[in-house]
Amino acid sequence: MSLAKLLPALLPAALLLGQTSVNAADLDGAKLFKDKTCWSCHGKDAKTPIIPTYPKIAGQNADYALQQMQDIKSGARSNGQSVAMKAVMYLVSDEEMKAIASWLATLDSSGTGAAAAAPAAKVAAPVAAAAATAAANPHAAGDKPEGWNDNFADKDSEQFQAMNLPADKENGIEVYEVCSACHLLEGWGMPDGTFPQLAGQHRSVLVKQLADIRALNRDNPTMYPFAKEESIGGVQAMADVTDYIEKLPMNPDNGVGAGDNLALGEKLYKDNCVKCHGDNGQGDPVKYYPRIHGQHYNYMLRQFEWIRDGKRRNANPDMVKQIKGFSDADMKAVIDYTARLKPSKEMLAPSKDWQNPDYD
Ligand code: HEC
Ligand code: HEC
Ligand code: HEC
Repeated sequence: MSLAKLLPALLPAALLLGQTSVNAADLDGAKLFKDKTCWSCHGKDAKTPIIPTYPKIAGQNADYALQQMQDIKSGARSNGQSVAMKAVMYLVSDEEMKAIASWLATLDSSGTGAAAAAPAAKVAAPVAAAAATAAANPHAAGDKPEGWNDNFADKDSEQFQAMNLPADKENGIEVYEVCSACHLLEGWGMPDGTFPQLAGQHRSVLVKQLADIRALNRDNPTMYPFAKEESIGGVQAMADVTDYIEKLPMNPDNGVGAGDNLALGEKLYKDNCVKCHGDNGQGDPVKYYPRIHGQHYNYMLRQFEWIRDGKRRNANPDMVKQIKGFSDADMKAVIDYTARLKPSKEMLAPSKDWQNPDYD
């Protein structure tokens, strides 16, 4: 069975596991390495990193590896590259880190392991040229984002081209496998908000966000290496993967908030959001306004706060103005209301147990 097939089943269980204390000896380090997204950066064999400047960790001394994981998790080891990993470290407990470290120590560190690492090898091979810019996020503070979505009108831009190429579904499935390490095979992300739901999002929005992430107009150090042309490919791959994602059915059971202030949320939504995101949160593909109904509450709350506070640099300036005066309580109320807006039935998967049949 492919790793991709295992991921959706394992991730939620693995998350729960992370919260209870379990003896390291009972844990399966190899399985954890897959469940906790480690392979997406370090390669399935732990020695075929997605970017040449990311470390090979197969065969590493267990005590050393454990110490590094702990230091990256706590922030004691912190640099432009380690931030990419820090973002996922809350997924692993001390016991789990120990189990992974013991397993890593048993691996053979020789060779590049390219043959064993299916998607990672495919993307790692052509990335040598990217090494110069490979720090997880080399963005210099103070750089200005490019004009809000000007690029779509420019026939030479990757946005324009990706939107106008016919998509190849088979290639979309292949490219998406790497994305699924974080966004899951169904494209449903996680209710805790670490990874957004992508399924059903307008293709134009997906293209814009991907282009922004890879142009460093939107900071996303965890995902940055995967968005790069050297990793996923050029405009054709972008066309294929975004078309594939847009057609995936959405999670009928997304994460919502406490439900304690929905009347205020509804009022705020009607007064401030409808003109762009639509009366039901459906967004607008022509204007790159994202679909926000059915999205996880925790993810939206973070984005909304970042947009309000100017931290999401590619945000639409008119939205920033519109929500400037929102208090934290307003924000929670309106996002809770939004998360509970239901996409139409045809957009949703038949049940929350639906599994993506394109991977087996
Ligand atoms: C998003 C990419 C990413 C993910 C996911 C990721 N890592 Fe890392 N990891 C890195 C980077 C980049 C470094 C090097 C950091 C630095 O330069 O300080 C690193 C460093 C390490 C090191 C220290 C290596 C050394 O020789 O010093 C270990 C051990 C490690 N990672 C294990 C893991 C484990 C286990 C997981 C899963 C729980 C994981 N990583 C998930 C990117 C990632
Ligand atoms: C190592 C984990 C990881 C991988 C692999 C990954 N992503 Fe992401 N992605 C993220 C995270 C984390 C976010 C949310 C970042 C934030 O909070 O701003 C995100 C956000 C996004 C967004 C923005 C969504 C929105 O609603 O604005 C898009 C689009 C996206 N990812 C597409 C992809 C595609 C396509 C791939 C595969 C080519 C991919 N991602 C691979 C971690 C990942
Ligand atoms: C002027 C138009 C406009 C208004 C008004 C507006 N938005 Fe937005 N919103 C946008 C655009 C455009 C984006 C995507 C920004 C980008 O490309 O980074 C966005 C992004 C978001 C996101 C992040 C979505 C994601 O997938 O990452 C959330 C959540 C959100 N808006 C919620 C709201 C809420 C709630 C309101 C009302 C309180 C609101 N917006 C008002 C245009 C608007």
